[in-house]
Amino acid sequence: MLEIIKSVVYCNYVGRVSDYCLERSNHLNDIETVSCVGSGVIGYSWALYFSLKGLHVTVYDISEDVLELAKKRVHESLKALIVNGVVSEEQSFNVESGIVYTTSMDEAVKDADFIVESGPENYEIKHSMVEEMEKYAKDEAIIASSTSGLLITEIAKKAKHPERFIGAHPYNPPHLIPLVEITKGEATSEDVVKRAVDFYKSIGKEPVVLQKEALGFICNRIQMALYREVADLVTRGVCTVEDADKAVTYGPGLRWGIMGPSLVFELGGGEHGIAGLLHHLGPSINLWLEDMADFKSFPDNFGAIVQSGVNEEIKNRPKEIGNDSKSLAEYRDKMLIEMLKLHGKL
Ligand SMILES: NC(=O)c1ccc[n+]([C@@H]2O[C@H](COP(=O)([O-])OP(=O)(O)OC[C@H]3O[C@@H](n4cnc5c(N)ncnc54)[C@H](O)[C@@H]3O)[C@@H](O)[C@H]2O)c1
Repeated sequence: MLEIIKSVVYCNYVGRVSDYCLERSNHLNDIETVSCVGSGVIGYSWALYFSLKGLHVTVYDISEDVLELAKKRVHESLKALIVNGVVSEEQSFNVESGIVYTTSMDEAVKDADFIVESGPENYEIKHSMVEEMEKYAKDEAIIASSTSGLLITEIAKKAKHPERFIGAHPYNPPHLIPLVEITKGEATSEDVVKRAVDFYKSIGKEPVVLQKEALGFICNRIQMALYREVADLVTRGVCTVEDADKAVTYGPGLRWGIMGPSLVFELGGGEHGIAGLLHHLGPSINLWLEDMADFKSFPDNFGAIVQSGVNEEIKNRPKEIGNDSKSLAEYRDKMLIEMLKLHGKL
């Protein structure tokens, strides 16, 4: 009876529950058991995603308290997926109870085919995690670091098997954003890269592979190029933090959510394409480039300046589009879910 009531609620809300939650048998891949080492903002979300895709998941962290927080985050994120009609309560229960949490590295990684390291962004800590993981992992297990921009060659430099290390950089939150940037170190085997790409594709991710190592990878470099300009515009007094955010959200951000910047410019060039656009606007664009920011570190006082601008921006937002950190995150996830549905990813 309860099940019938629940399905009525979902029908009223979105029409149907999506098939985001996969049965184990629905993806053909040799990777069945995944271990998430480090269960913070990124680690818990990876664990949730893998469990949603029907994989066996273990989660390791350094204390029971941290693991409790991860469990709470998994629960809260699943509640949001239920409210937004992505999973049913029954699926949510199975996903949640399918994750095993442990403070024993041995227990966490010994059976894993694929290990995701999401520890602090620091070479020294990652080196000690590499040593610990390799002590107990199967020789053939792939180890993927969530690092936001560190080099895999450096992370794996003391590894027994550096050939099995890749970077697999997600975007927050990994249980929703499809992109994974795959990076390889000097010793990474091409077979490992191929297996990882196949794995991510099989569970609905959109992997892109960097052909060369580059700090910050593709998207963080693009984001920081944009953000350097935001910092310059704001500190020069050209616009407020709020107007810079509004300009991106209601302008190019809408188009970037549909296609990348080169395709957007291709359309901007009409029948002459992007080459025509650059030819036509080139002289003018070069004047802008001359005037644009090229600093190599953010101004010292920018943190304080932007924080006060963001505080003002948040004060001006109506509650329904988020006006504190909790409601902003809820609004972001609700909108992400709608966009992912439009992209056929949910
Ligand atoms: N936060 C983001 O937006 C984001 C996005 C993409 C990638 N990343 C990357 O993901 C990784 C994790 O970032 P985060 O934001 O989740 O950080 P976080 O601080 O939220 O989580 C880090 C976790 O690692 C655990 N930890 C500390 N020492 C450990 C050890 N020796 N062994 C195992 N676990 C240990 C901590 O207890 C904590 O739970 C970083 O490499 C970061 O660059 C972060």
